[in-house]
Parts: sequence; structure tokens; C-alpha cells
Amino acid sequence: MKKYYLSFAAVLLGAVHVSGAGISHVHLTTPSMSIVFARDAEGTWLMPYYGARVKNAEDVLSLRFNPKRADGRIGVVAGQVKPASYSVYGSREIGIDVNKYGGLCVKHADGVMSSEMIGLQPEWVEDKQAQSHLVLPMKDEVYPFVVRQHVRTFADTDAIETWVEISNYERGAVELYRMDSAAIVFPLLGTDFRFLSLTGQWGCESQVSETSLERGQTVAISSRNGIRNAWFANPAFMLSVGGEATERTGRVLGGVLCWSGAWGISAQRDYADLLELRMGADNSNGAYKLAPGKTLVTPKAVLVWSESGKGKVSRELHRWARNHRMPHGRELRDIVLNSWEGAYFDFDEARLEGMMDGLKEMGGEMFVVDDGWFGNGRYARDNDRNGLGDWTVNTNKLPRGIRHLTDEAKKRSLKFGLWVEPEMINVTSELYERHPEWAMKGRTRSLGTGRGGTQCVLDLTNPAVVDDVSAQLSKILKDAPDIVYFKWDANANFFNVGSQTSKCDSNIYFDYTLGLYEILSRLRKERPDLVIQGCSSGGGRIEYGFLGYADEFWPSDDSDARERVFIQWGSNFFYPASAAAGHVTVVPNHQTKRVTPLKYRFDVAMSVRLGLELDPKKMSPEDLAFAKECIGAYKRIRPTVQQGELYRLVSPYGNTYASLMYVAADGSEAVVFLWGLNRGPKKDFVPPLRLDGLEGDAKYSIGEINLAKGSKTHSDAVGAVVRGDALMNGGLPVYLDAGDYDSAVFVLRKIK
Ligand code: GLA
Repeated sequence: MKKYYLSFAAVLLGAVHVSGAGISHVHLTTPSMSIVFARDAEGTWLMPYYGARVKNAEDVLSLRFNPKRADGRIGVVAGQVKPASYSVYGSREIGIDVNKYGGLCVKHADGVMSSEMIGLQPEWVEDKQAQSHLVLPMKDEVYPFVVRQHVRTFADTDAIETWVEISNYERGAVELYRMDSAAIVFPLLGTDFRFLSLTGQWGCESQVSETSLERGQTVAISSRNGIRNAWFANPAFMLSVGGEATERTGRVLGGVLCWSGAWGISAQRDYADLLELRMGADNSNGAYKLAPGKTLVTPKAVLVWSESGKGKVSRELHRWARNHRMPHGRELRDIVLNSWEGAYFDFDEARLEGMMDGLKEMGGEMFVVDDGWFGNGRYARDNDRNGLGDWTVNTNKLPRGIRHLTDEAKKRSLKFGLWVEPEMINVTSELYERHPEWAMKGRTRSLGTGRGGTQCVLDLTNPAVVDDVSAQLSKILKDAPDIVYFKWDANANFFNVGSQTSKCDSNIYFDYTLGLYEILSRLRKERPDLVIQGCSSGGGRIEYGFLGYADEFWPSDDSDARERVFIQWGSNFFYPASAAAGHVTVVPNHQTKRVTPLKYRFDVAMSVRLGLELDPKKMSPEDLAFAKECIGAYKRIRPTVQQGELYRLVSPYGNTYASLMYVAADGSEAVVFLWGLNRGPKKDFVPPLRLDGLEGDAKYSIGEINLAKGSKTHSDAVGAVVRGDALMNGGLPVYLDAGDYDSAVFVLRKIK
């Protein structure tokens, strides 16, 4: 991306049109959307249109703008409320809450709280990754205080990115009470709004919840956590506009925020069915002090508009994520065996090598050593009380070091990965002994601790800490260059808000995340090939801030296959299958004690990025053979699952079974997953599955994989060749009659 410099007399580089009424406007398009920005006679940047693609922006503007009004205002309700492209607090806007409150609230250096932003000429950024990259600059009419609103569009998705840069050229510091990435007053048309989001906690992340948004109400979701910011609520939503949307029908606005710290998203509906959408980093715990001469860049907010239901919102976001957000979004992910549930802290070289042997035998590809490999002497990491911060190998367990393990993996043609928790520290560590001032806490406060009674958070707002953590990570990789994967864990939230070395604790929530991103950027620069999994006590970090640096996330510490149907169902509303790690574990499941067949566990894990988390030495020869077969089958369907387009068919909510499918990007293959949840009254009766996303005219051969030896198929159509229109309208006949946790995976191949 080319650097551009701030200029009050901005140069006009792109297509800006002037309508008959003297309104300058910009019309951005995506494959099926239009966004129209316009600057009204008062000089305010507005967004009079956001929705399905229209041919001519002037037509839309002519409906919004009333040339007979002497003040030349654009309004969406009786010419009154301005559809602000970025609303700020204190503006002279007549009217109502929506534009008065604002996503940006600034106390200027002289103490004045209001802002009046005057729109300057739009600018275009040269940006090779985007289709267009527009900047709408705005300057306060009195103060040298500037906001630049960015909007990026892409040729291959309806997802757009938007964020702002806030620059303080005043004499002293300004305080930002609100600093949202997006704060848009939407001229949405509808009288019925429903807000879908994800909620959960440890062990049950990404549960789908939906509520209606009535007149005069605000629905707000947020995380004040600072670190595990996706546990209780996920920074993502879908808003159905004008009635309840289904997977295939209805108008839906979707959005995600790319941020790993505290955040807030709110949708406020006013008396006239106008909507103000705000998305941004949450700083309600303290106004952000922006020093003179400094610019704050807010996280990216991503928006998608769909005229054909929620399924399309998911697909557009997934495509955006794979093509424009995740570092290796277009690459296929390896089949991993992670040591955690198989060995916990109890391992030595021989045990790990035995696990590698099993993985190799099953056809797996990457071996990952989880927690327990580091810390030394009295701080050896033999339990969760010691050693965080000391990223040198635990020689009691692994006398020949990590390099010996990477060599052993190599001998077996396996790749190798390692668990790290770089943001946290135990007070029982050499690092804490050297630098107690690096632990987060208010200067005058005693230290509170988390996991193990000894864990606290490193103060990543301190550049010395950022340097040290970066150096330690770099050393791990230099000592064992064959490490190609990090599982990056973060098992804490801010329990000691404050910095011992900075005088500005109110900036800590935001600056911590900047420190985290600095470490991740350095790591990425040093090792662009490294695959990173984001984990935070399970799914505490399922979000696109981290996924800008990482390739996948750990959806939950709950590895029970039935629970995972729900957890993965929820996460894939917003996050692609290639990014969700699904690991097959033993039964009874360690978290729920539930017993499910091995086939069921594979059938669920294979709908995302397949992995295992068990000790293969403890598997029976029959199970090992079955696992080998499933892994082989996964390798064949992997491109479709990890890179295909997702269609949700039957929700696990309110049903005794669930189903979804992926269609390969080139349409040549489709994979259909069907999972029983437990038997209900109609235990044997599953109506034919109406498939989706196929070509109506094309013929498909129907096959089934992962069949246990001697068991019958789950559809009478297996072996048949059928046209797409019949499968999508008549439906695929299926059975789920072999007990509570019966399941099936069908593979459809297009006949050329
Ligand atoms: C967290 C993670 C687990 C595992 C443990 C190790 O709980 O979510 O997957 O890595 O830490 O301590």
C-alpha cells in the first residue's frame, strides 16, 4: 500500500461526481452492493445509500435530497436526519439521538467537548489488494483535529472494510471518550429488525442467540475483557432487516470487528426506523489520551450486505477472510495431532515420539507439543503453576531439547509445532524474578493472580516487554528452525488493570492490543511461513483481529463431538472452516463424559480443520485403522471443506440433528455432513435434505465416506447419479437410525 500524507487541500484522484443539485458524491460498488457517499451543502460526509447494487447513484440521491429545501440538506426522514457516514458527538445536527451521540467523542485540548467535522475532498489510496480504497477526510471547523474515514472494497466479495484515523494537531493532548471504527446512521428500510450474535463462556463458546430490536431500543454486545475477548460475546453480528431472515432469504446486514482487545458493537433503532450502527474498540474504562502530533488508527470494521439471507453473509465473510485477511487463507491446513488431551503435562521424549509414530501410521501431518515443554529447575512446567515467561526447554523432560523433537518429527516426515503463552507470566518464573515490574497491575495495588494462583499478564504497553517477548519467541525459532507452527495461547483476562511503568492507565486497554500486534508483526516478518493458532482458554480469541496474524483458532476446550456441532455451527456464521480446529479426542470425553462413536467424532471434526488430540498408543488396532481411513478421506475432501462455500442446511437448534455442506470453489464437488444430536420422538425420520449451492442442470454422483466396516449407507441414493435441481428441490433421502450419535458424510462429484 502506498503511503499517503495528510493534506487539508486534498487532491482529487478518483471518481467523484457532482449531481445536478451540486452534491458531490462517490459511488462504490462490490459484486452485488452499492455504497453512496455524498457531501451535503453544509460540508458533512453522509452515506445516503448502502444496499443492493444500483446502476445510478444520482437516482438514489435524488430520492434522498430535496432540492426545494433552502438549506440544501440531505435527510432520510422528512428531510431531517442526516445519514452520517461517521457520526460525531456534539454536532449541530438538529434532531435526534442517532446523530447526536456519535461514535467519536473528543474532549479537545482546551476542554471543549463537541466536534463539528467538515468534509474535505475525498482521496483514493493506491492499494493493490483492494478494488478501491477511498478516504473521506474531515477536519474540525475550529480545531486542527482530523478524522480520515477509510473504506476498502474488493472485487471478489461484498464485504467492505471501514475504519478511521484520528489525528490530533492541537497544542495539547485530546481525550477520546469514544473512538469507534464505524458509526453509521443507516437509511435502512424495514420495520422489523433481528440481531443475531454469538455468546458463551469456557467450554461452550459460539452459541447462537437472536433477539428482536424494537423501536427505541439499542442492542449492544461488548467485551470488556481485554484479552479473552470472544468468550461471552463475539465481535460479530447479523442484523435481519424487514422480517426474519432465513439461510436463503431475507435482507441481512452482517459485521465483524477486527480487534483482540475490549470492544463494543451496538445497533440503535429510533422512532422512525433509522438505525445507528456503532462498532469499535471499547474505552469506557477510561478516555484515551491522544498526545499532540499523534494519530490513532482504529481497528477495521467489516460490513456485508445480503439480499438473500444469512448464508450469503457467511460466505462473503469467509471469502473476504481467506482472500484478504488471514495470512495463508488460501492454503490447505495440515492434519494435526496435539499432545494436550493425550498427555497433558505428563510426557517425556519417548512418549512424544510414540505419539508421533501413531500419527504417522494414521497418515497425519503435523505434531504439536502443547503446554509443559518449558521452564527449568524449580520453575519446571510440570503443572500450570510454574514457568510461564521462561521459554527455554524443560531439560528434565526433554534433555535433548526441542531440536531433537523436530528431528524426530522430520524422520517421520511430520511437521512440528509448539505451544506458547507469550502474554502471560507466572510469578514462579525466572522472568518475574528479574522483572516484577513487567507484570500488569496498578502501581499502588497488590498483585492478583489467575490460573494456578501464580499467573499474571505481562504489560505489553511497555516497549521493553514487547522487545523481550519478541526476542524469546525468536530464540525458540532460531534454536529449532524446523518449528513451523505455534499454538499461541492466552489463558487470562485483565485482572490487574494498570501498568507499573506508565503513568497513563486509561490507555492500557487499547495499547495492550497494539503491543500484542507489534509482537505478532515482528514474528510474521521473521517467519512469514509460520502457521499460528490463536487459543485463549479455548475460544476466547475467535476474532478477526488475531486472525489478521493467525491462520486458525481453537474453538473450545470442550472437545465433545456433540457440543462441537453447536460450537462450530456458531463460529462458522462468521469464521471459515479452514480456521476452526476440530480435534478427535477419546471417550468418555474429558469435559462432558459423553460417549460418542469414533465415526461421529471424525464426522464432526472433518467438517472443519481436522486434527486429533489423544495418545494413539492407547487406540485399539480397529480404531487406528478406522482413523487412518478417515484421515485418507479427509485429504481428498480437504480442498472443498477448507476452501469451499458453506451452506447451512439444518440447524442444531430446535432439531434432533444438524446438517451443512460445502461446495468446491469450482463447483466440481460437494461434501454434505449430517449429524444426529440425540434421539427425539421421530428418531428414525429425517426428511430428505434439501441441498444448496449446486448447479441445477449438472449431474452429480453420490457417494458416502467414513463408513464403519460392514455398516450400511445412510442414503438409498448412494451410488446414484442425480441432477442438482432434484437434490436441491426434492432433497437427498437420508437415514440416521443407528443410535443417538449416528452421522454421515456424503460426497457429491459433478459429472463432467
Ligand atoms: C488452555 C488451552 C488448552 C491447552 C491448555 C494448556 O486451556 O485452551 O487447549 O493448551 O491451555 O495449559
